[in-house]
Amino acid sequence: MTQSIEPHFRRLLVTGGAGFIGSCFVRDRMARRDGTQIVVLDKLTYAGNRANLAAVEADPEQAARFRFVVGDIADSHIVAPLVAEADAVVNFAAESHVDRSILEPVDFLRTDVLGVHVLLEACREQQARALAGDRASAPRLLQVSTDEVYGSVETGESREGDRLEPRSPYSSAKAGGELLARSYFVTYGLDVVITRGSNTYGPFHHPEKLIPLFITNAIDDQQLPLYGDGLQRRDWLYVADHAGAIGHVLEHGRSGEIYNVPAANERTNRDVVAALLERLGKPWSLVRTVADRPGHDRRYAMDGTKLAALGWKNAMPFEEGLAATVDWFRDNEAWWRPIKSGQWEEYYRRQYSARLANSRDAG
Ligand code: NAD
Ligand code: DAU
Repeated sequence: MTQSIEPHFRRLLVTGGAGFIGSCFVRDRMARRDGTQIVVLDKLTYAGNRANLAAVEADPEQAARFRFVVGDIADSHIVAPLVAEADAVVNFAAESHVDRSILEPVDFLRTDVLGVHVLLEACREQQARALAGDRASAPRLLQVSTDEVYGSVETGESREGDRLEPRSPYSSAKAGGELLARSYFVTYGLDVVITRGSNTYGPFHHPEKLIPLFITNAIDDQQLPLYGDGLQRRDWLYVADHAGAIGHVLEHGRSGEIYNVPAANERTNRDVVAALLERLGKPWSLVRTVADRPGHDRRYAMDGTKLAALGWKNAMPFEEGLAATVDWFRDNEAWWRPIKSGQWEEYYRRQYSARLANSRDAG
């Protein structure tokens, strides 16, 4: 894995840093002990979890370089002073679950579009200060986006210049956020870089998503609701590789550019589920075919030439990463059991009760 020895950006504002990928970015970056100071701004929605950053907060040397602020990226009063103290903003904050965007889209627009706008305006304010000589340079903004903005890709691999054809409220909101970010580069000359990552998995993954949902359900011998024929294809990226790629683009990416972050681990959902059941020693009979996700994207796949040319290479092979992930969930029930209670039960009923009642053997 290629990593910069001397980071250019020493004071980072990491928004959404209590979520799955953001917290991995923060933990890994802080563990380098290179003097980087990080402020995390996170609204602590159902998906945010301060326990994800416990390792940082429990380490005196890291804790001295770290601050946690609870707040909304769409609130300019909270955002502006934090951006004023940052050399760069790395925006992980988002509503991130496609199924929830189908149930209730409005929070996705608020955070994934309007929240990005607030961050951009705060950066623009600092750009004006830099031009006036009040700070050395304008902050860089890295917008974390997704392969879902390309829409469903039946064949071949999406390249950065391809048309965006998002098909869910989630992916449309993410496309809106990144288009806005790019427009601030073009229109105002703001220092913006964008990454489009593929399906990510690993420790601390919220149990609403396929891999952690199926691992934790299987541990409890509960049914596994597989949408449609289960032959949809995703490209699975280990979380530390995704976080590392984002750090690499932050340091080395060219302003105004977009970088795909693929994994080269394309699998059908059926294959992924079979592999995790095998690792757990649980039977396929737990898997149930249920009603499909409306507008379900069949396949995502991206070309990674541009990121490779920037000097980034992923480290984790899929089989090893999946085994490590299964083992982590088996060993960390104290982390996920509280998440699968309270509000979760209502969500689970709404999303799966009727589906499971009408399910059939997955063959
Ligand atoms: P996540 O849902 O686990 O975490 C999102 C975090 O953002 C949470 O901590 C949440 O509390 C916080 N947040 C939500 N709304 C906020 C707001 N208005 N203000 C401040 N904080 C807010 O998400 P994730 O899976 O870690 O994804 C992180 C980013 O990466 C997202 O932008 C997502 O679109 C993108 N992405 C995710 C994947 C994936 O497979 N998980 C792949 C590609 C891109
Ligand atoms: O591709 C990147 C995207 O990956 C990110 O931008 C999103 O934030 C992230 O949530 C993820 O989106 P997906 O919709 O691909 O992930 P999810 O884990 O929800 O679903 C993966 C596949 O598994 C998809 O084909 C739907 C299917 N699935 C999912 C769930 C939750 C099921 O069959 N059953 C389920 O219960």
